[in-house]
Amino acid sequence: MIPKEIISRILDTANIVDVVGEYIRLQRKGANYVGLCPFHNEKTPSFTVSPTKNIFKCFGCGKSGNPINFLMEYNSLTYLEAIKELANKYNIPIPKDNSVYSKESSDKIDLMYAALDDAAKFFNNKLFENQGIETLQYFKNRNFDINTISTFLLGYAPDSYNDLINYLKQKNYNNDILISNGIAYLSEKNETLIPRFRNRAIFPIRDFIGRVIGFGARYLGEDKNQAKYINSPQNEIYDKSRVLYGIFESKNDIRNKGFAILVEGYADVISLFQRGIRNVVATSGTALTTQQLKLLSRFTNKIYICYDGDEAGQKASESAAELSLINGLDVKIITLPDTDDPDTFINNNSIEKFEKYIDNSKTYIKFKISRFKKQNLLNTPLELSNAIKSIINVIYRIPDELQHDFYINELASELNLSPEQLKKIKESKSSILKNIDKEANIAKNINLEEINKEKSSFQYKLEDLLPEEKFLAKLVLNNSENLLHLFEYTNFSYDMLISKTAQKIFELLANYSESNSILNEILSNESDDNIKKLFIDLSIEQETPSENWAKMLNLEIKAPNTIKIITDCVNKIQIRKLENHFKELKILVAKEPENPIHIQRLNDIIKRINELKNTT
Ligand code: CTP
Ligand code: MN
Repeated sequence: MIPKEIISRILDTANIVDVVGEYIRLQRKGANYVGLCPFHNEKTPSFTVSPTKNIFKCFGCGKSGNPINFLMEYNSLTYLEAIKELANKYNIPIPKDNSVYSKESSDKIDLMYAALDDAAKFFNNKLFENQGIETLQYFKNRNFDINTISTFLLGYAPDSYNDLINYLKQKNYNNDILISNGIAYLSEKNETLIPRFRNRAIFPIRDFIGRVIGFGARYLGEDKNQAKYINSPQNEIYDKSRVLYGIFESKNDIRNKGFAILVEGYADVISLFQRGIRNVVATSGTALTTQQLKLLSRFTNKIYICYDGDEAGQKASESAAELSLINGLDVKIITLPDTDDPDTFINNNSIEKFEKYIDNSKTYIKFKISRFKKQNLLNTPLELSNAIKSIINVIYRIPDELQHDFYINELASELNLSPEQLKKIKESKSSILKNIDKEANIAKNINLEEINKEKSSFQYKLEDLLPEEKFLAKLVLNNSENLLHLFEYTNFSYDMLISKTAQKIFELLANYSESNSILNEILSNESDDNIKKLFIDLSIEQETPSENWAKMLNLEIKAPNTIKIITDCVNKIQIRKLENHFKELKILVAKEPENPIHIQRLNDIIKRINELKNTT
């Protein structure tokens, strides 16, 4: 955790024009800067940067935020990573957390990374010594050139119990570190430290910012009892369900090309990459997971699955495609000849031929249907019905409901279904969804908690604000004097607000009223994206000349006097609230004409309204 004060300091210092300007060309336009939006394709600039508010907003795609948000979005960083980046840029030191426990553990993690990095370099060096000659030859036989070997930091783990351990001990890593990061383990008998990978070709595994987090190690010898690959065990920094092999090397190409090719093995990634198909990552022997998809979706939402051509590979493609769809990604499936994997294919064919396979990749529906056909499972009405059910079961789990119909229509046209049959399918939606809900409660892969949180949280919208509420909010958001005036010198009260959105806005304005930059505080402290967006939109919306506004609201204002406008706005809101109340009371009076209380309250309200109107 970085202390709040430091985050505020970073935000006070970080200049949005500076930060954005490093990545895109900005031109001055009035008080703002504009440029071509990096987050969507556009020919005329609608990406707006406001130096006074220190935020950006694209009026084309709607992306918006402060310097932190920009870096997060542009470089696919986490919040913490973006903060650190800014701290670096502006030379703001981030103090280490001083609680004993976390200091210890964060230092330990640093050392675990450092030792992995040292080990990777050690293995890489060994590859070029005499003892590594066979492994080097193996890589060469697989057509990995020297450049590729160094890009992927491939290596050789010597057939020795001491070399690596001694080397790392010299560098002062203790047993605890080397055991914790999976490099070594303790022997059962004499408690000596044993290096986990011996006499194996080494594939270092890196996270998306390039840190070595573990190793895959391939056995090259004759011993049939040896496992083909051994990998780092799960530990604090290596979690195989979160790893995508190649992500560091390929992330830029993935972003630039707009899609990622997902393969199964280390060799598949390396061979494709070397041939220039660089937007490629591998799951490395595990079934694709939701966490891996989350990682990938930092860079793209489109995935081409290219597993082995054999039955096992196709079966795995099916599950991977379904998980991707359920997680909201676009999916295509590439089916290679059944004796090939991407590695053998690209080594025996031209790049153009591989690109043809990309072009001919199937949509999920076409892929599924071809699978059913191959299995001879589309012949009888019962088989057809089962096939359709299994496919729409997936379709209806796609989070973007708008897509459901597209897929259903594709399914219908692929199977030549009549419009009546199609209609039946669509009508079955609610019953299928009920089943899905039940299943989802048990399914581990879907994060129900997150989905529900999104569903239950109220969507605040700028359009919900009454004109007076919006006007008032704008006036006080960017000016702390105005804000204090509102809270201290007017009749403003929370319960006079009418829209739920206004209540939320003023509640937050009150919470942050002491700070000099409310917007920044809200953007860095609030976790709800909906609320952040609300405030950004509120503060960057085209400035409306106060006089026009005043006219629209029937406020008689000669000279622009903000303090007076604020008071009048508050009155206006109160009047509107009282008028609503008045209408309700009139209904009551009609119902119970003999009840004197209603009449009395009605008269009170009329009096209050008149008073307020006179002070305006
Ligand atoms: N894998 C593993 N353990 C195994 C077998 C495979 O971890 N016993 C993982 C590795 O990450 C491997 C991937 O699954 O890269 C795909 O397996 P496979 O196709 O057998 O490996 P390749 O990378 O294709 O290796 P090679 O071509 O050298 O056989
Ligand atoms: Mn292979």
